[in-house]
Amino acid sequence: MKKIVVLSGAGISAESGIRTFRDADGLWEGHDVMEVASPAGWKKDRALVLDFYNQRRKQALAAQPNAGHLELAQLEQDYEVVVVTQNVDNLHEKAGSSQVIHLHGELFKVRSTIDESLVYDLDGWEMNLGDRCDKGSQLRPHIVWFGEMVPMMEEAVREAMTADVFIVVGTSLAVYPAAGLINYVGAEVPKFVIDPNMPPLPASDNLYLYPEKATTGVKKVAAYLRESLKL
Ligand code: OAD
Repeated sequence: MKKIVVLSGAGISAESGIRTFRDADGLWEGHDVMEVASPAGWKKDRALVLDFYNQRRKQALAAQPNAGHLELAQLEQDYEVVVVTQNVDNLHEKAGSSQVIHLHGELFKVRSTIDESLVYDLDGWEMNLGDRCDKGSQLRPHIVWFGEMVPMMEEAVREAMTADVFIVVGTSLAVYPAAGLINYVGAEVPKFVIDPNMPPLPASDNLYLYPEKATTGVKKVAAYLRESLKL
């Protein structure tokens, strides 16, 4: 079975009603990202940060996967599909994708502030000041904040290096190391990019550009793989 590796970003969830980061006002749901997504922001106002992610969880619980997520899940009928996502929502999983690597963490997990190996699933949307890990420290969102390590990157690179097809969908490729993943994909591997505003891309021979929304673009890429490339 051929392996498809997908790199997705906020754009794939846009048509499910979740806002992207770098459009319009440069704010994330009304907040400066450093206020709600950095260790400094956490130090300054834990209650604000916890409330921010509570709101994001409520929003994600109400959101449904769109045709872009669903089509990627469908590809598993004919291909091995590994989705590497920068998104913290769970819409790829809700759509049925079985192999999802979350580079920037997951909304529905929380972890200890003194022992990062203590990670817990969160039922529902709420986490508050005073919610503690088994060692007694405050819990924090299991999110990779600005300035923090991206521990899942190594696994993502291993997948990218063994891809037969690479699909980039809905990301501005503005944030590293995620944006560099495409550089690990083999030169001969077909690379598809779906985004209404094309991100900056390295020069490559096998680049197929779809300047459109995820809900239509992923379908077209799937059809091209099956009908034209006959992979
Ligand atoms: P961005 O907000 O930077 O980029 C979203 C991309 O989606 C843009 O290129 C848009 O053109 C595109 N887009 C918008 N609507 C779309 C649609 N309907 N279909 C397809 N594409 C569409 O989001 P990311 O690249 O994901 O990190 O941002 C990367 C990281 O920066 C995020 O994971 C987040 C942020 O800071 C953390 O939270 C740690």
